[in-house]
This record gives sequence, C-alpha cells and structure tokens, in this order.
Amino acid sequence: MTRIVDLRSDTVTRPTPGMRQAMLHAEVGDDVFGDDPTVNALQERIAALTGKEAALFMPTGTQSNLCGLLAHCQRGEEYIVGQLAHTYRYEGGGAAVLGSIQPQPLVQDAQGRMALPDIAAAIKPDDAHFARTRLLCLENTWNGHVMPHDYVTSAASLARAQGLSVHLDGARVFNAAVANAGEHGDPLAALRDITDVFDSVSVCFSKGLGAPMGSALCGSKELIARAHRIRARPCWRTSRLPAYWPPACSACAL
Ligand SMILES: Cc1ncc(COP(=O)(O)O)c(C=O)c1O
Repeated sequence: MTRIVDLRSDTVTRPTPGMRQAMLHAEVGDDVFGDDPTVNALQERIAALTGKEAALFMPTGTQSNLCGLLAHCQRGEEYIVGQLAHTYRYEGGGAAVLGSIQPQPLVQDAQGRMALPDIAAAIKPDDAHFARTRLLCLENTWNGHVMPHDYVTSAASLARAQGLSVHLDGARVFNAAVANAGEHGDPLAALRDITDVFDSVSVCFSKGLGAPMGSALCGSKELIARAHRIRARPCWRTSRLPAYWPPACSACAL
C-alpha cells in the first residue's frame, strides 16, 4: 500500500490516538472563571517552558499575536515588524482594524532579519506628528529559517535601549530551539535562550506538534492580565471548545 506523507505544511499534522483519547477524557471547566483544570495546567506548563510568569491559551496563533500586540500597544501607537512577517502580512490587518495600532513594516533579508540601522531609523521621536513606537516584533522561525541568535539579542537590545518592548511570533519556536540545540544540546535550554530575550512570546501547538488547534501567549502576569481582557472582547469563552485542550497539552508533553 502506498503511504502518502503530506509535506505541504507543518499545519497539516493530525492528532495521535493518544491525543484523541485525551480529548475524550479531558477534565473541563469554565476558563473565564479560571476553573478549567486542563487549560490551567497547559498554561502553567507553557509559561514554565518559556520562562514567563504566565500564559494564556488562545484558539489560534493569529489571535495570540493580536492579543499580544494589543496588550503592548495602545491606540495610535505602532509596532515595527518585517514586511513579510506573519503579524504584518498574514493576519488580516487585525492590529490596525481591532486595535487602531499602526504597523511599521521593514524590509527583511533572506533569513527574515530587518537591518538594525533600519530598525533604529524607524523608531519615531517623541513628536505629536508621529505614532508612538512601542514594540519590535520578530518571528522565529521565519519562512523555515532559524533566526541567528546574535541577531535576535542585538535587535532586542537596540529596541530596549529606545524604550520599546519586544514580542516574538514563535509559532514554530520549538523548531528553532531544536535546531539551535543541535544533536547533543538541550532543546528546552535552547528554547529559554530564545524566549528570555522577549517580553512576550506567542507559540503554536498546531504547527509541527500535531494538535488540531491552539496557541498560547506567554509573558509577565501584568501583560497576560491585559491580554485576557482583550481576548474576552470578541466573546471568546474557552470552555466552548474543551475538546481541543488535551491535544494541545499532549503536544506540550504535559
Ligand atoms: C509564523 C506564523 N505565525 C502565526 C500563524 C498563525 O497561526 P494560526 O493559523 O493558528 O492563526 C502562522 C500560521 O501558519 C504562522 O506561520
């Protein structure tokens, strides 16, 4: 029998039998009240893995990035982002539509890097004519490339020195961690090396890990509390889709 391996995307992974069993037997509750034990366990686990104080489960990476951007930036502020980054090009302009936040897109090189002088030049002076620049947004991996770690740290330091926060669209950051760790390194330590650079990190369970859906935004307690409020606005009540938490948990090896 011919077995076809679907390599169109890492988003076409399917839940394993173990994940399906976990869905069937999941303990569920109302996440808005904070009493869905499975969601709570997942959030604690992913916060610990990324070295952040807190995490918030989201249905999609798009929503996770959006809540992150809106938690960092107020109306009339802006985020610096790659011209081809997911948070600029592939998220329906959500930050502008729903948050009145302006993206400041910059050209990227073949590895997804924006030139540091371009980032520096894009940070607006404190002047009423300009949107206030609040955030630098990076993506790792980007288009299949692992962003070199020295670039990540340099870009983040540059942004921080100008008072900006730094967000990572880490939809596939586990892949970056495994690549950075190499054959004999510790992928979880490599993950922390990456995530420690950022104020917030969005990770996806549905890309390469086999969960049918699900992402998490990780950051400080304060940032995640703001994101929780933002997530509630489009009436997202996570207990409505309880069947999907366990695959996300098992993707995260809970
Ligand atoms: C880099 C990156 N960020 C975010 C997303 C959004 O994830 P979702 O499809 O769960 O909204 C994707 C989707 O493929 C992605 O590739």
